[in-house]
Amino acid sequence: MSAKLLEGKFFAAALKEEAGKKAEEIRNKYGVNPGLAVIIVGENPASQVYVRNKHKGCTELGFYSEGVEMPETTTREELLAEIHRLNNDPKIHGILVQLPLPKALQPYESEVLEAIDPLKDVDGFHPVNVGRLVTGQKALIPCTPHGCIRMLELAGIPIEGKHAVVIGRSNIVGKPMLHLLLSRNATVTICHSRTANLAEITKQADILVAAVGKPRFVTPDMVKPGAAVIDVGINRIPHPEDSTRTKLVGDVDFEAVKEVAGAITPVPGGVGLLTIAMLMQNTVIAAELQLAK
Ligand code: GUN
Repeated sequence: MSAKLLEGKFFAAALKEEAGKKAEEIRNKYGVNPGLAVIIVGENPASQVYVRNKHKGCTELGFYSEGVEMPETTTREELLAEIHRLNNDPKIHGILVQLPLPKALQPYESEVLEAIDPLKDVDGFHPVNVGRLVTGQKALIPCTPHGCIRMLELAGIPIEGKHAVVIGRSNIVGKPMLHLLLSRNATVTICHSRTANLAEITKQADILVAAVGKPRFVTPDMVKPGAAVIDVGINRIPHPEDSTRTKLVGDVDFEAVKEVAGAITPVPGGVGLLTIAMLMQNTVIAAELQLAK
């Protein structure tokens, strides 16, 4: 292996420690403990794991944490009422509605995300926060792309003046990543499923971010030697040795690409761990924003 391995646990620990210190400052200054509410509707097993990990993150840092479990049959009105209640609860500084919503609620996803008070929007998905990020104002920033950027900075990988290529244009990762890289003076190219001559473009990347949701999509011929490769994908594929199990792989063919890249994140154990650390940071930032008002 020639690439430096960027292990999420080290960076996540540093980012959580930062959040813990800021939380302590808030407790001392305002006598208030940061509080996070996570709403989960239905019983998506992957979502249940994420939500448990978010609760664990809160407990570790001594935050107030509220898990709101709502049944699969929850109506639009019931979910909006719950968000409204949490918007008005002074113990709660951050509200996260775990996605994806059950099928019947998916047509209302935008309405649901917009119902969250922008000051409590720790996912950074509300159009107010999206607009603030795009225009370079102080915003609550989506946790996964922000975690990737903070990891690059902590690892000492330069961004300014570099060509960053992002594969994927989702609202959760690709689009916010564009603005975060741009604000740090990278030259940014966004590629997606309709991009022609994809490998020609990705091969120019000093920083390559894969967020396409296709297992082992990025192969060594798509990577410039020495590039930093950030794998945001989480894909379950049939286990090669045991048909009763599945295996977690990223959007990057890790085993092959690590021989070409200069630095690379693994899956599992990569950027996934940073998301929770950044959620803790956003909860503290949200608390400060509300308490300073
Ligand atoms: N589902 C997968 N990733 C995320 C995330 O970052 N936030 C929310 N709310 N749901 C998700």
